[in-house]
Amino acid sequence: MIKLRNVNKTYKNGENKTLALNDVSIDIDEGEMIAIMGISGSGKSTLLNILGCMDCFNSGEYLYRDIEVHSLNKKCFHQFRKEHIGFVFQHFALMNQYTVYENIELPLSIQNVPKKERRERVYDALEKMGIKDIAKKLPTKISGGQQQRCAIARALASGNELILADEPTGALDVNTGNEIMSIFKELNQQGKTIVIVTHDYKVAAYAHRILYMNDGKIGENMDEIKN
Ligand SMILES: Nc1ncnc2c1ncn2[C@@H]1O[C@H](COP(=O)(O)OP(=O)(O)OP(=O)(O)O)[C@@H](O)[C@H]1O
Ligand SMILES: [Mg+2]
Repeated sequence: MIKLRNVNKTYKNGENKTLALNDVSIDIDEGEMIAIMGISGSGKSTLLNILGCMDCFNSGEYLYRDIEVHSLNKKCFHQFRKEHIGFVFQHFALMNQYTVYENIELPLSIQNVPKKERRERVYDALEKMGIKDIAKKLPTKISGGQQQRCAIARALASGNELILADEPTGALDVNTGNEIMSIFKELNQQGKTIVIVTHDYKVAAYAHRILYMNDGKIGENMDEIKN
């Protein structure tokens, strides 16, 4: 499904340069659930952002099925993200002035999905996440676990096949984190391809495969990427 080849990403801040991804090549199969681990600053979020077209890279290739993502122009790049990627973040990234329902609906409105279809898709996602009863509540009035369910519902309602999650359990207690991971596992069994960044081996154990990052490099085990 995904082939990254020799991807390099450098951040520039004035004179300072950070090589955040150093010759990263990975393959992700359709229907896989992958965990990415590594110490802080090793490049995990950078990689996820590149997979999700939240950021561009300096060199290398990104193939998504038969799409050459590295060749897309800016407009197509954003369109690609909307059509294929669902994002879930550590701190949920919900809009606090909107209800749970509205948070899930908003990206669909932006994509001009008709109102009736929006309603169906939002309710379907609410039902799957077991949060129909809190649809009218504001994010500030519900628990962290419920907020993350809402964020996953938003990713689901988009209908997109690839879900990228950056530390999705990082702000949750252990039990709630396990609940959220069970949800990801179930979504994966229903066909979603999932990539999860985590610091927690128990979270990573839900995945089929663990990839490790160190200083911008990636590998199947830590030894091959040690400096
Ligand atoms: N916007 C940015 N501008 C400059 N440097 C950045 C930027 N974002 C990340 N970096 C640097 O790139 C490197 C990789 O950062 P990244 O955020 O991908 O790490 P991470 O593995 O996700 O870390 P953490 O576990 O703390 O979230 C780090 O050295 C970081 O300081
Ligand atoms: Mg990070």
